[in-house]
Amino acid sequence: MSWQSQPTNKSVLAFNKNKIHEGNKGLAIDHGKVEVKVDELLSSMTLQQKINQLRGLQVQPIDGLYYAGGDDEIGIPPFKMVDGPRGARAGKATAFPVAIARAASFDVGLERRVGFAMGLEVAAKGGNVILAPTINLLRHPGWGRAQETYSEDPFHMGAMSVAFISGAQNHVLTSPKHFALNNLEITRFELSANIDERTLHEVYLPHFKRSVQEAAAGSVMSAYNKVNGVYCGEHPVLLTDILRDDWGFKGFVESDWFLGTRSTAEAINAGMDIEMPAGFRYTDEKIQDALDNGELSSEIIHHNARHVLYQKIAWNLGEMVTPDEAVVECEEHISLAREAAESSFVLLKNDNVLPLQDDAGIRIAVVGDLAETINLGDRGSSFVTSSKVSTPLQGLRAYIKNAEIEFFNSGDDFQGLAKFDVSIVVAGLTYIDEGEFIPTQQQESEGGDLARGGDREFLALPELQRSLIEKVAKASNKTVVLLEGGSAIQVSDWLASVDALMMVWYPGREGGSAIANVLFGDVAPSGKLPVSFPLSMNQLMEWDVHALEVNHDLLHGYRYLDHHGHEPQFPYGFGLSYTTFTLDALQVEKDSGSFRLVVSVTNTGTVAGAEVVQLYVECLESNVFRVPRELKGFGKVNLEPGETIDIELELVDADLKYFEPANNKGWVLEACRYNFQIGTSSRDLPLSSSWKFDGEDWQPI
Ligand code: BGC
Repeated sequence: MSWQSQPTNKSVLAFNKNKIHEGNKGLAIDHGKVEVKVDELLSSMTLQQKINQLRGLQVQPIDGLYYAGGDDEIGIPPFKMVDGPRGARAGKATAFPVAIARAASFDVGLERRVGFAMGLEVAAKGGNVILAPTINLLRHPGWGRAQETYSEDPFHMGAMSVAFISGAQNHVLTSPKHFALNNLEITRFELSANIDERTLHEVYLPHFKRSVQEAAAGSVMSAYNKVNGVYCGEHPVLLTDILRDDWGFKGFVESDWFLGTRSTAEAINAGMDIEMPAGFRYTDEKIQDALDNGELSSEIIHHNARHVLYQKIAWNLGEMVTPDEAVVECEEHISLAREAAESSFVLLKNDNVLPLQDDAGIRIAVVGDLAETINLGDRGSSFVTSSKVSTPLQGLRAYIKNAEIEFFNSGDDFQGLAKFDVSIVVAGLTYIDEGEFIPTQQQESEGGDLARGGDREFLALPELQRSLIEKVAKASNKTVVLLEGGSAIQVSDWLASVDALMMVWYPGREGGSAIANVLFGDVAPSGKLPVSFPLSMNQLMEWDVHALEVNHDLLHGYRYLDHHGHEPQFPYGFGLSYTTFTLDALQVEKDSGSFRLVVSVTNTGTVAGAEVVQLYVECLESNVFRVPRELKGFGKVNLEPGETIDIELELVDADLKYFEPANNKGWVLEACRYNFQIGTSSRDLPLSSSWKFDGEDWQPI
């Protein structure tokens, strides 16, 4: 398991689960007391008052806040919900690097701090619920909202989500979304994600379960799409059987906006507690009709209103103190945004060109319009703007003391680049290429430009970006490419012509200064890919951005690539540093209910750096289909040159189980052979330890 690093003595770094949960108010709820209070309150409420709890209050947000279910007459405060996954979308706020960038840091302690800061800013804006994190599994890297989510891997996703929620819930409730299987953008309102029970529980839901059970998320937002033909907003199996009955969820469910609630009685009966952003299906009239014709009962209204009031009481919502606005974009949050960006960059290629030296006489060309563009990510519901944003060009200019920098925009003549020691090309994608799909008309009516977003049909860069890189590489002595974007990009057509490549994602308000710090080596890059970069789309599953039905199975991402024996361009978990590391001396001990794995990590290079140790499990001799390997633990460690640290990971037996729907068996720990593999990417796993389970006991083999 992966938790905030916690030095236990000089040389062992264990990953401490308790630390991550510190201050999470959701985990401190005294359920016994809340039960009594909520029943007392409900017994004094009329049916109409209960109905009023079940819907949002306005179509448009007020200062970024979406209100739901307030009732002044009886002293019930409203929820005030604020988007979203990269900061508080209410006026100006700290725009953090997008979630997928933060996931590349593989640093749960850092993600907890980011969640804490975002939660605080949402509270300072007057909000009490943050509409984040987005935790839909990245089934295909072309998904338009890939940047909002964390990973193609459910274990990685769960760890980041638990960290974010625990941080944010020091201040406000969270709302992991979109429940469930929302992983195609353009057709999201109609698409049916079809899935078998095993795949659902093993791959697409574990991170939701952990968010609810380990981090006590206060609410869950349902998805627009259908699952197996039924809209998620009226899906009794998802909203009631799984979420409440199996997982014991005590929060409320709100629908995704406008088209997330498709019916009145079906949705209410299925367990959709709040229609957002306002009552279209949950109007007094429609609810009354459904009560009159027997489709709805007053008990179910009571039941759902109870879910809503439960959290209001548990969180003492009426007494929540609004922090001073001065916390918004405060120095601490700005430097946290920079740290998050620095930790997120993934160095993918480096032929002796990085880090750069800030020496007198060195001449650097910075090339490409994106170098001076504010590129924070998409402009859908997660769009956050800051009062100031550091672009790559500004960051580099502010950094240098001795070197010389000249800027060339994308249309310039590049003949002169040969005069420079190195060219840094900033290339990639913007909100036009990918993101939440905002139809052109809506953007125009809101005064925006022709933003589109949506899914990417192809993973290659747009033609202009590709030819920019090619032209610069031809004309330059050395070429460094910084790639902006929210997911995997196909680079095979031009990679060989450049000397270095670093994925910088959408790096947030401090992106430029973080880029300078990493390019000049003040900080070594330490990010690892949270999504496999294929050589070409042929290596991946079929991808149709207009599909109305998509079949899900156990294979996607690195699971699919490994199963089919495809060698990707860059595997999941891969990333270089300015130094080198070795792993050795793996020791594995069996404890009750878990394994304790200790491995020595040494920095064998000449500069300080951080490495992410990754644990994958192979299950051999199984009687059911198993994917080749799955991530089940990770930990990140900072090391000085020459330094060795032992790091300890915990692997719980429960994470070795598979889901068996036949005969209602559920989670099964199968008697077979398990191989624990340790390394620094999903394709570089030098250490291993094999264990056999005979149904009762474990033996090393
Ligand atoms: C998005 C949600 C978002 C909501 C409110 C929807 O379109 O799918 O993620 O929280 O809008 O802005």
